[in-house]
Amino acid sequence: MREHWSKLGFILASIGSAIGLGNIWRFPYIVGENGGGAFLIAYIVAIIIFGFPLMIMEFSIGEKFKGSVVTSLKKIHPKIKYLGFFAVFVCLGILSYYLVIAGWTLAYSVFSIFTQIDFTDFTNTLYPLAMFFITLLIITFIVRTGIKKGIERVCNVLLPTLFILVILLVIKAVTLPNAIEGIRFYLTPDISSLVNPRIWLMAIAQALFSLSLGTGILITYGSYLKKTNIPKSSLIVIISDTLIAVLAGFIIFPIVFSFGINPATGPQLAFVTLPKIFSFMAFGHFFETIFFLLLFIGALTSAISMMEVGTTTLIDEFKLNRKKATLIILGIIFIAGLPSALSYSSFNFTVFGKTFLDMMDHLFGDILLPICALIMTTGIMWFIKPKALLEEINKGSKIKIPYFIIPVLKYLIPVLLLVIVLMELF
Ligand code: PHE
Repeated sequence: MREHWSKLGFILASIGSAIGLGNIWRFPYIVGENGGGAFLIAYIVAIIIFGFPLMIMEFSIGEKFKGSVVTSLKKIHPKIKYLGFFAVFVCLGILSYYLVIAGWTLAYSVFSIFTQIDFTDFTNTLYPLAMFFITLLIITFIVRTGIKKGIERVCNVLLPTLFILVILLVIKAVTLPNAIEGIRFYLTPDISSLVNPRIWLMAIAQALFSLSLGTGILITYGSYLKKTNIPKSSLIVIISDTLIAVLAGFIIFPIVFSFGINPATGPQLAFVTLPKIFSFMAFGHFFETIFFLLLFIGALTSAISMMEVGTTTLIDEFKLNRKKATLIILGIIFIAGLPSALSYSSFNFTVFGKTFLDMMDHLFGDILLPICALIMTTGIMWFIKPKALLEEINKGSKIKIPYFIIPVLKYLIPVLLLVIVLMELF
């Protein structure tokens, strides 16, 4: 018998998948580098025309076909089953390095209770490897325990905690001296930047990553649905995800400006710059611990969803039980993640002049993710009967989504994704 979410459990787990490193660490600096408040406008447009339709499509496919991404695509048309395998590959590829960063956040949240952490000193030890493995064990244990008893129960506790931690940090950040400078930088819209098509593509790419779209995660989560209002649930997920991303900006920018640091430090911000700043702050260690705990919770609940994609595929396609399935994924991810876990260490793994982890992030996060979303959406929309899809979407909803969504999914979204892929490649 296939397990089923409770209504709330499904929504919280999906929010947990969406909220992650993408919101708390990536979103603020992308906003900072791309026209401040203007980027926010582009982002909101992107989630309406792009994020929302894709999300309801993925959830409904999962709910209708009740199977892993591979199984569901196979039921739509046997030929596109391979796209499902590609989605699993991309998802696990992302997981392999995402877990390394999750491990860093775990280490930082523990160590910052005792000392000030220096990134280089930290990565020269074997702690990154150990923490990667511990985090992998934690998510394996949760996923192995099952949908309702494992994932749902953990998300029911962690998600409310995450919201509380965010509020605490926002209060601390906006009451720092000079916080207003940071808020001004964050929100002042440079409207002229909206004529730059790049801003729009960045907004779409960020929506893709942040909402966990395009690799079958939401198909997988949807496959454990019983009966729910998909448009409404999707809206709740999208609003929560965006709220946390926007609030993260109210944490990062006031802190950075209050201590006179250049905000465009990019990805280094969280692990190099912020720990230094925290050490100058009243109760700095305490807030540093909270900050990294927040990142860790966000990353953990996202990693769980990625692991579930592989697990459900092994269960539905290869008829393994959940225990065996999670054990296999554990082995794959451990091996695939090793070079990323060692890449900032003295082993200094580099590929094309980039550390291995950065290379993985670029390859999987920036290139293969949009490619996967592009071919999966095209494949699904090519073969599925529009009427059947629309019926599934609207089954549990009083407010009906109009037919208009079909051409959006079939033509507009693939074209946008294609442009993103080409932009990344050239
Ligand atoms: N949505 C997650 C985040 O914002 C990351 C993620 C990307 C998860 C792709 C799954 C797939 O961090």
